[in-house]
Amino acid sequence: MKYLVTGGAGFIGSHLAEKLLALGHEVVSLDDLSTGRKDNLKNLEGVNGFSFVQGNMLDEPLIDSLMSKVDGCFHLGAALGVKRILERPYESLVANTQGTEIAVKAAVKYGAKFFLASTSELYGKNPKQPLAEASDRVIGSPQLVRWAYSEAKAIDESVVQMFHQSHGLKFVTGRFFNTVGPRQAGAYGMVLPRFVAAAIKNEPIQVYGDGSQSRVFCHVSDAVDGILRIFFDDSLVGEAFNIGGEEEIMISKLAERVIRIVGSNSKIESVAYKDAYAEGFEETMRRVPDTSKLRKETGWTPKYSLDDTIRDIEKYLRLQ
Ligand SMILES: NC(=O)c1ccc[n+]([C@@H]2O[C@H](COP(=O)([O-])OP(=O)(O)OC[C@H]3O[C@@H](n4cnc5c(N)ncnc54)[C@H](O)[C@@H]3O)[C@@H](O)[C@H]2O)c1
Repeated sequence: MKYLVTGGAGFIGSHLAEKLLALGHEVVSLDDLSTGRKDNLKNLEGVNGFSFVQGNMLDEPLIDSLMSKVDGCFHLGAALGVKRILERPYESLVANTQGTEIAVKAAVKYGAKFFLASTSELYGKNPKQPLAEASDRVIGSPQLVRWAYSEAKAIDESVVQMFHQSHGLKFVTGRFFNTVGPRQAGAYGMVLPRFVAAAIKNEPIQVYGDGSQSRVFCHVSDAVDGILRIFFDDSLVGEAFNIGGEEEIMISKLAERVIRIVGSNSKIESVAYKDAYAEGFEETMRRVPDTSKLRKETGWTPKYSLDDTIRDIEKYLRLQ
């Protein structure tokens, strides 16, 4: 089969493209290289069945033409990272809503199966944890632009659902919780690559706020495994699945863990949110995934512990 991966030069997209090729599929990777990097695809240069197109997913004729030649689309292209959303809010909103609408309409036109990359941001600050697929969205004021990413992905989920009902779009949605691993860029507000990079250089590790906010991290290989399991099971069409890791950790403890695993002399430095982010930021204190639906329906189980994941990121960064 032949698949289009939007955001294909990005962090998750490049790992997904590799896996699809290893399974014997052809892959067309589309990316405007805004946060993605050609370097992420260097293992794939010259690989049979792989092609890269540098372009914008808002370019409707381009998407139409690419979609007309594939059996399915993994729609991962998006503007993300808290820093990027706050710095370029409107551009991000347009990419994350219109980009999906254009891809969905083309998928409907050509009968391509569709994977939508959604997010745990959808649940906002719902205090009831862990978060299951049917959990409520508890979102802050629209005057805080950081919530626009959550809003955009929620609209995307509604769009695929509507086109499923009205036009028979075959889709499945993966809601990623913090996904981490080699190739993730730290520049847009992603915490783990930032911490590991600082630890390797023995530079201060900056913890935003008091560090009591917690997250659960999932290795990108486990996330890609989850994507493939839900995408290639036709009985799951029309469903949304949480895809996330197992160990909940406070960010202050994560900094200590990174220092220990890397064997670093880094000191931990507290940075007030107002100094870390542009205006419009609001923290979410916990984000714990309930992945029982994914486990029950597909037999998925994560293979990487948090420590393995930190080591893997360290190994990658030391080779850069
Ligand atoms: N990494 C995570 O923890 C996480 C969590 C929740 C959801 N997600 C979702 O997973 C998907 C992949 O995220 P990622 O972590 O790989 O981030 P990423 O930034 O590495 O990937 C997104 C890719 O989309 C590309 N892109 C952005 N705008 C584009 C446009 N207009 N046209 C073409 N390409 C464009 C970027 O250049 C980038 O390569 C995104 O949809 C994101 O919202 C990721």
